[in-house]
Amino acid sequence: MLFTTTKEHEEFRQKIRDFAESEVKPIAFMLDQKNQFPDEIVKKMAKLGFMGIPYPKKYGGVGLDIISYAIAVEELSRVDGGVGVILSAHVSLGSYPIFAFGSEEQKKKYLVPLAKGEKLGAFGLTEPNAGSDAGGTETTAELKGDYYLLNGGKIFITNADKADTYVVFAVTTPGIGTRGISAFIVEKGWEGFEFGDHYDKMGIRSSATAELIFNDVKVPKENLLGKEGEGFKIAMATLDGGRIGIASQALGIAQGAYENAVEYAKEREQFGTAIAHNQVIGFKLADMATKLRCARFLNYSAAELKEHHEPYGMESAMAKMYSSDICLEVVNDALQIFGGSGYLKGMDVERAYRDAKICTIYEGTNEIQRVVIASHIVGKTPK
Ligand code: CAA
Repeated sequence: MLFTTTKEHEEFRQKIRDFAESEVKPIAFMLDQKNQFPDEIVKKMAKLGFMGIPYPKKYGGVGLDIISYAIAVEELSRVDGGVGVILSAHVSLGSYPIFAFGSEEQKKKYLVPLAKGEKLGAFGLTEPNAGSDAGGTETTAELKGDYYLLNGGKIFITNADKADTYVVFAVTTPGIGTRGISAFIVEKGWEGFEFGDHYDKMGIRSSATAELIFNDVKVPKENLLGKEGEGFKIAMATLDGGRIGIASQALGIAQGAYENAVEYAKEREQFGTAIAHNQVIGFKLADMATKLRCARFLNYSAAELKEHHEPYGMESAMAKMYSSDICLEVVNDALQIFGGSGYLKGMDVERAYRDAKICTIYEGTNEIQRVVIASHIVGKTPK
């Protein structure tokens, strides 16, 4: 597959870049320092249609392709990795499972307001004893007539209490492993559904992350997503797409740091010339640019496969793993080029350095991405 973006993609990129530069960049450092969620920015993104980019117009979306969505996360992350993941968690994790597995009624009730940006979405999979081993889910949902009783909790949930609609995974049939897990649509405000405090994170501090706590929450039977026992597959299929979002986030963070480093290297003079003309710096920039180009092709080709309903789970795992691995290398090199100045609070490259790390951890650690890729190559480990 030979991938190239279209003129429309690049015009769309410019639109998102203009928004990110004018609305997000000026307050990104403040949001980071105050650990503050950008409520107003999310409202503006909703007005501009960013929250439903890849969903059909009939479900409140904009009807653009997955590459446009990847470009949007990339461009927002180029100035603030936290804002990038708010969009990614909403579109890929909070909305996609309802779009792909929801009934028509569920789509009308939940996807339409999510895609229009009237509601914010989140995804509740991770638990204290079910991180990489998502099949170890312990939260339970017991059928009691016309509702399920949800008990347990989730950790590290992006969009936290800022979301309105949550896709939550819970065990409906204990003792049969992943086939006993089901997915549910849960609304904020239901009795017994509470939140922990926002975590004080190293990076992506403009995004909100917290625990979800369920104590005898009554989930109407009609909020079961898909069939009982399909939850694990729904989670895995959702994460296949989510990884394009995280690859885009990593790519954006790295791109922003790279551009800042290029600008700085052209301005900063040492030994009588701009440091960019020192081969050791020029070679660093060459390596950074090459890695970014590889990551971008990998990511857009995964997005293109998804768009054309081709298998893309291996390719999105590759894109997520590679983009986030090179993101760490690129931000590290960028900060090195800035030298001591880059180590100071208030410098975009300092924030990018902290924002980058999470991309190798969430939506499946890069070790898990290698498990996924290897299983596509050699098959699953016999149990
Ligand atoms: N699509 C559909 N079905 C899938 C699938 C996929 N991509 N991957 C696996 N399945 C199916 C399998 O076919 C299998 O089906 P059968 O029962 O019919 O055989 C079933 O699911 C179980 O599969 P495995 O035996 O492979 O499952 P496993 O327990 O060995 O786990 C794993 C596989 C890849 C390690 C998985 O647990 C995993 O992806 N872990 C990482 C979890 C993760 O990414 N968490 C991130 C949380 S979200 C987050 O970070 C969000 C945030 O807020 C930003």
